[in-house]
Amino acid sequence: MDTEYRPAAPISEVMALSRSIRIRTLPARVVDRLRWEWREWHTPSRPSFQHEELDHALLDLIPWRIGERVLDVGCAHGSYLRQLANRQVAIHGLDVSTASLRRAIQYGRPLVAASGERLPFADESFETVLCHKTMYLFRTPEAALEEFARVLRPGGRIVFSTSATRTPYALIQQAAVRILNQRNWSSGNRLGPAAWVRTAKNCGFDQPHFYSCNLVAPIVFRMCDRWIVPNEWMRRVARTVRRVTGTPIDSARPHRLAQDFFVVMKKKGVCRSAHLANGNQQLPM
Ligand SMILES: C[S@@+](CC[C@H](N)C(=O)[O-])C[C@H]1O[C@@H](n2cnc3c(N)ncnc32)[C@H](O)[C@@H]1O
Repeated sequence: MDTEYRPAAPISEVMALSRSIRIRTLPARVVDRLRWEWREWHTPSRPSFQHEELDHALLDLIPWRIGERVLDVGCAHGSYLRQLANRQVAIHGLDVSTASLRRAIQYGRPLVAASGERLPFADESFETVLCHKTMYLFRTPEAALEEFARVLRPGGRIVFSTSATRTPYALIQQAAVRILNQRNWSSGNRLGPAAWVRTAKNCGFDQPHFYSCNLVAPIVFRMCDRWIVPNEWMRRVARTVRRVTGTPIDSARPHRLAQDFFVVMKKKGVCRSAHLANGNQQLPM
């Protein structure tokens, strides 16, 4: 059989084609990105550079002990149930949304439908309470933090995420929230990391430690990530910014160039759990 002979396209045609692809795809990506932003306000998070940075801080930088009992408050579809169970953490999920929990069932972890402000667990049941992107949704954050303190063993820790409130990105976001009348968002988002730490201290936590994410240009990052600029490039930029500004990702205080934070705080009191006290890698059977 004859093979069809196809002359190579002249370079001018290739250039014209690539220009037209770029012209067609970039606006499409921007539109896609804006639609994603809109949906993000109503649904739990999906992967993007911002979330990858937070994931990195949560999964790789915060030390996890094999077998430690963790409660994931606001577990939604169970992304962290899966990822932390893979690290051999004994994780339980809790959420007010039964629809979300139905999707989390697939990861085979214990699940509870309840509010983070009223936990259906006995005192001192867990070594860690994780609360990622959920603190700002509580009507009474103090009630939630008091509940976290109650179900934690002495020496146990809370790991929660929060965002800066005075960066340009945060101010634009707050304006958009006001214009679009998104009440849920505005309430808790008014508290920045320092205010959360003060509230947590009143509820029995201490020794705050910060993991600062999304440095310097969160607006650019937020608007560009994934659909417009590949996450790998964003990571390179973030790494370079960290190197140039000499900014470590974890520190004793929130970094002023960062937009998002993980805060780790310890419950006050003497640690009675041999597991936490010894930093054991194995839970006693
Ligand atoms: C933005 S999602 C975060 C999901 C997940 N933690 C993550 O990082 O991907 C917030 C979740 O908090 C849940 N939620 C809202 N208010 C809550 C409350 N009072 N108690 C427990 N969960 C709550 C919502 O149903 C939702 O699944």
